[in-house]
Amino acid sequence: MAETNATVNQKKIDDCYMPLVHSNSSSINIDDSLSGVDDPIPIIDFSMLISDDPDKQFKTTQDLRNACLEYGSFMVINHELPDNLIMRVYEALAQFFDLRKEEKREYETNDPTDMIRWGKWDGNLLSTEFIKMVVHPTFHCPTKLAGLSEILQECIKRMRELGVQLLRAISKTLGFEECYIEKRMKLESGHDFISANDYQVRLNSENQLGQPPHYDTGLLVLLLPGESNGLQLEHHGKWINVNPQPNSIVVIIADHIEILTNGKYKSLLHRVVLNKKVRRISLPLFLGPSLDTTVSPMPEFVDEHHPPAYLVKTYKESLETNQYQVIDGMSCMKNVR
Ligand code: SIN
Ligand code: FE2
Repeated sequence: MAETNATVNQKKIDDCYMPLVHSNSSSINIDDSLSGVDDPIPIIDFSMLISDDPDKQFKTTQDLRNACLEYGSFMVINHELPDNLIMRVYEALAQFFDLRKEEKREYETNDPTDMIRWGKWDGNLLSTEFIKMVVHPTFHCPTKLAGLSEILQECIKRMRELGVQLLRAISKTLGFEECYIEKRMKLESGHDFISANDYQVRLNSENQLGQPPHYDTGLLVLLLPGESNGLQLEHHGKWINVNPQPNSIVVIIADHIEILTNGKYKSLLHRVVLNKKVRRISLPLFLGPSLDTTVSPMPEFVDEHHPPAYLVKTYKESLETNQYQVIDGMSCMKNVR
């Protein structure tokens, strides 16, 4: 029996977003040693991207386009977030994670719709502690630690502003006017969340991951990557170690840009390996459309050779269908779009 369009689309989606410990995607054949390779990732100088000098701005926009096409990621420098703000965020998060477990348990929940969620993975393969919070349109934060909310709110506000500007630049790299994606995705009321992660040193951390291989939900992820390495990005079948420059911000292209561009800019596969010497705290901000926005490939990326390859869903539905699965004892995120 011939497959209907809907079946074909669902199949593509399932193929792309299978849990990734045993990726069945033929294009990805990842060498599974945890050490990774130290190839650099593209660097985008934000001051050049918004420069008044049209040549500098043009060249950096080209670099941004190549980074989105070739890597699905880049490191942003000269981004206008003050160094001491970033330092204070890391310190405040460390203090939060250092609270007694009973104090953090107040935020422990299995309900993914809760605005604040604390949790811990502590298995043979995976080890992470995290706190997730919805931060836009309404900001949520634990009140257990004096000062945490103020410092995070200040930092997130600036990260969001940066994210919106990067999205404008990305809109230009696709040939659109700069606010095209922002307006289409109703970013002003966008649903953003953060997930602060604490990766403790594990002396016997052979084969230990802090995050399993996964793709991220949303449009862009802006990551404060901590002060040591651990994040690895998939590139041409290899895991690249991200060695963050001090106070840089790592940006990752996430699922909903891939959907909008009908696969032109791909969502990036990444994972975290535990650092054996230093505790690492990271803070990704997941910048998303508004919950009621329907996300589907934009007409500019659809023609007879490029039929729509993704299911049409609201952002809320996408978030609701993200699932956790246990594979080989490892909890894996499966993004079903
Ligand atoms: C994530 O993938 O969400 C976190 C990445 C990191 O901690 O570096
Ligand atoms: Fe991620």
